[in-house]
Amino acid sequence: MFDALQLGLVWFFVALGYVESLKYYTEKPPYIESCRIKEPDFTNCSTHSIQGFLNEVIKGIPEIEESFGPIDPMKQDQLTFTQADSDVASISANLTDLVIRGFGKMIVKESKVNIKDFSWQDKIYLPRMRLDGKYKMVGSVLIIPLHGSGNIFIEIDDLDILLKAKTRLYEKGGYTFYNVTDVSVKVKVGHVRTYLDNLFNGHSKEVEQTTNQFFNDNWRDFFETFRPLIVGTLERTMLDLLRKMFSVMPANFFVEDIPNSLLLYGRKSRLIA
Ligand SMILES: *[C@@H]1O[C@H](CO)[C@@H](O)[C@H](O)[C@H]1NC(C)=O
Ligand SMILES: *[C@@H]1O[C@H](CO)[C@@H](O)[C@H](O)[C@H]1NC(C)=O
Ligand SMILES: *[C@@H]1O[C@H](CO)[C@@H](O)[C@H](O)[C@H]1NC(C)=O
Repeated sequence: MFDALQLGLVWFFVALGYVESLKYYTEKPPYIESCRIKEPDFTNCSTHSIQGFLNEVIKGIPEIEESFGPIDPMKQDQLTFTQADSDVASISANLTDLVIRGFGKMIVKESKVNIKDFSWQDKIYLPRMRLDGKYKMVGSVLIIPLHGSGNIFIEIDDLDILLKAKTRLYEKGGYTFYNVTDVSVKVKVGHVRTYLDNLFNGHSKEVEQTTNQFFNDNWRDFFETFRPLIVGTLERTMLDLLRKMFSVMPANFFVEDIPNSLLLYGRKSRLIA
């Protein structure tokens, strides 16, 4: 199957003192459904189309995996996170050696495209997302002063993501592409479990256990402390992934009647002028 698809790939070389190579599809692979934004069923069609693409990306499209790495489990080197002056927490935490599981089960519930500026609004659902890593932390969570380092996991059930993406259309090889320029997300969670070992630098295993029990009993408040970490991780990850996905696949394959960017922005700037 990949062999057939490879035929549709072209190599595009740009020499600017260094050589940069960009590969992209010039034939629509069968797993992508084409939709017309001017048709009334566009959003439903687009939802299936994006899910189809995502499913292949999760299975592994070499051109994307090469630069992004595997999607599930996904590795991240480091996350730094500080939160000051909130009601529930004042914390500085560094997470390293992170492994994030769950992106392989992403479900696109809705994928809307704005007909004016071609920005997106997507509803994505993950049955479960789990983050494992090492933490180093100073501060307080739910008024409990913490000082320690060790292993952490945060496991989220029923993660609903509302993703908004800004895009800028551009032309490449006779096709129109999406440049995904910004991603913002809002999340809702069904349930959260966690464990931080070696809290208080291992001074008391018993206090460590009761503290973790307390976090799990009060998981909504615990999650609020870590919400910026989860949201930030999702925003960075999705921006990176979507940029790579849509730099190899022309926007024309998803939205057959997408306007040429020169016409779209040309017309707009003439309207403004
Ligand atoms: C949504 O789209 C899918 C595939 O394109 C199709 O099978 C389904 O019937 C559509 N549903 C509605 C409600 O139009
Ligand atoms: C986290 O890392 C930053 C910069 O690398 C550092 O300034 C901060 O003190 C670290 N926090 C903890 C709790 O180790
Ligand atoms: C995409 O947008 C970024 C800025 O967000 C810009 O640096 C980059 O050159 C753009 N890429 C293309 C191919 O237009």
